[in-house]
Amino acid sequence: MKKISIIGIGRMGGALALALSKKGYTIEQLISKNLKNAEIIAEKLNNKPEILSYSKLEKVNSSDVVFITTQDDRITEVAVALSQKISPGKIVFHTSGSLSSQVLSVLKGCYKASLHPLISVSNPFTGSENLKNAFFCLEGDEKAVELGKRIVFDLEGQFFFVRTEDKPLYHAAAVITAGHLVALFQVAVKLLSKCGISEPEAQKIFLPLAKSVIKNLETQPPEKALTGTFARADVETMKQHLRAIKQKKLDDVLEIYSKLGLISLELSQKVNPDLKEQIEKMKAEITDFLSKK
Ligand SMILES: NC(=O)c1ccc[n+]([C@@H]2O[C@H](COP(=O)([O-])OP(=O)(O)OC[C@H]3O[C@@H](n4cnc5c(N)ncnc54)[C@H](OP(=O)(O)O)[C@@H]3O)[C@@H](O)[C@H]2O)c1
Repeated sequence: MKKISIIGIGRMGGALALALSKKGYTIEQLISKNLKNAEIIAEKLNNKPEILSYSKLEKVNSSDVVFITTQDDRITEVAVALSQKISPGKIVFHTSGSLSSQVLSVLKGCYKASLHPLISVSNPFTGSENLKNAFFCLEGDEKAVELGKRIVFDLEGQFFFVRTEDKPLYHAAAVITAGHLVALFQVAVKLLSKCGISEPEAQKIFLPLAKSVIKNLETQPPEKALTGTFARADVETMKQHLRAIKQKKLDDVLEIYSKLGLISLELSQKVNPDLKEQIEKMKAEITDFLSKK
């Protein structure tokens, strides 16, 4: 098993240290600014790592692999500092979703990749558990990617690849799946609050509905998981929705409702060719409504 150093012991750095140690990797060093956090993680590892400050970067040379798990906007400066100290032949990963391995290009003679776990880690302990079964996006040098595959396999996750130039697009898609889903949920909660129901209550009320949709997506493609007004192409119901939102002067909601409605209609069309006429009518209504708003 490879020896590993981790630079930046926050949520992801801590989670990876815990999960990798559990799977038999030796965590040689935890390098961080906040040494107290690193000590809390070190206590739970199967071996006793060195806990070092950033000024001791040369120590990583006793490891085969280095993970940079600082905030995205610090990765470049860490890579530059590391380039003065690291020996050639080491494998270096970062875990950012939006940045590619090119951000590590200053590390000449090393093998470099990005290894992005597609999970939300709010604390290292629950995060280390959630790495199991997660999907990991890998991108970078062949040798580093090969080791990344091994690490993901050992963590009981699954990997996939994107091209280096596609990393920002890939990450935008991930943000839509996670953060934007929460933002969309908030739009619905706010709208229900306009019906006299408090936001916390609205959240409770909508949660089972949202969960049932995710459950449908577990077994069906989007066009089959889609239910409701747009799946059925209910023209009059949609017109009532548009009028009600407009009456409340919620222009942003109107735009979100309409644009997502058009995407829903594309999905509905795929599985309901018999609804073509109503679907076209709804598309025209939305376009007309938006042009007059
Ligand atoms: N958390 C997630 O859900 C998640 C999911 C997927 C990928 N990621 C990726 O994982 C990486 C880390 O994210 P995170 O959420 O774990 O961030 P985080 O909790 O803020 O942890 C970053 C840690 O790095 C430390 N640090 C910053 N500069 C340093 C330096 N020069 N030397 C040593 N340590 C340094 C920070 O210390 P200070 O706080 O004192 O600055 C902090 O402890 C990012 O690239 C992020 O995109 C995170």
